[in-house]
Amino acid sequence: MPTDVRPITIPDFAAWKTQRRRISVLTAYDFPTARLLDEAGVDCLLVGDSLGTTVQGWGTTLKVTLDQMIYHAEMVVRAARRALVVVDLPFLSYQVSPRQAIRAAGRLLKETDCQAVKLEGGKAMALTIRKLVDAGIPVMGHVGLQPQSVRQLGGYKVQRSEDRILEDAHAVAEAGAFAVVLECIPARLGGQITEALAVPTIGIGAGPDCDGQVLVTPDLLGLIEQFHPKFVRQYAELGATIRAAAAAYIADVAAGRFPNEAESFR
Ligand code: KIV
Repeated sequence: MPTDVRPITIPDFAAWKTQRRRISVLTAYDFPTARLLDEAGVDCLLVGDSLGTTVQGWGTTLKVTLDQMIYHAEMVVRAARRALVVVDLPFLSYQVSPRQAIRAAGRLLKETDCQAVKLEGGKAMALTIRKLVDAGIPVMGHVGLQPQSVRQLGGYKVQRSEDRILEDAHAVAEAGAFAVVLECIPARLGGQITEALAVPTIGIGAGPDCDGQVLVTPDLLGLIEQFHPKFVRQYAELGATIRAAAAAYIADVAAGRFPNEAESFR
């Protein structure tokens, strides 16, 4: 646990860009995991709508609701002592109009006490981002692969429309986003956008030259065994650990070895 437990703030991100200090971001969806990640010293906890696939078991993020995001964000905020907590606006909670976006983002800030929201979209979302920032709501942008547009994209693929992605990143940053997630784009483009923007870029499948990196925590921990995107580095094999622990418990129960005398009341 780092000794510096001053909570991280939005202005820290701008300072880190200037200092070229790299930023670590991990997703979190519940209290115990968020507490462990915060204690490990991660800079930012993202309550991602990836919970639709990692926690709820759907094939996409499209079914996640604003109420579900609030439910998970409350747990993560309660656990975070140092990390900045950012919460995703889920599909169709902000695309209808800037007014709808302010209402949804306002609920996230008021009801969960998180510090910022994240939304997907480039140029088309610039006005919405501007209105949110004008309302005092910090926004993290998200360009490149936008999972909420998976139906239109026809799958989760590397995005190679370089001019459009560059334009999107500029539009989001100029609209007032304090950081921009770059998802699944060529590494060279990740570096080029990072050089060009005044705010930090946070890459996921965007190469090593971004200002920060984000991973989906269940991927990093080895809990998602069916699907291994190229950009994921797995740091643990908790899937195997959990299966082995459960099998040992089941065997102990079957053999009458659990509970033993020390685990029983007299
Ligand atoms: O929902 C999420 O977890 C995300 C990250 C993949 C950046 O948006």
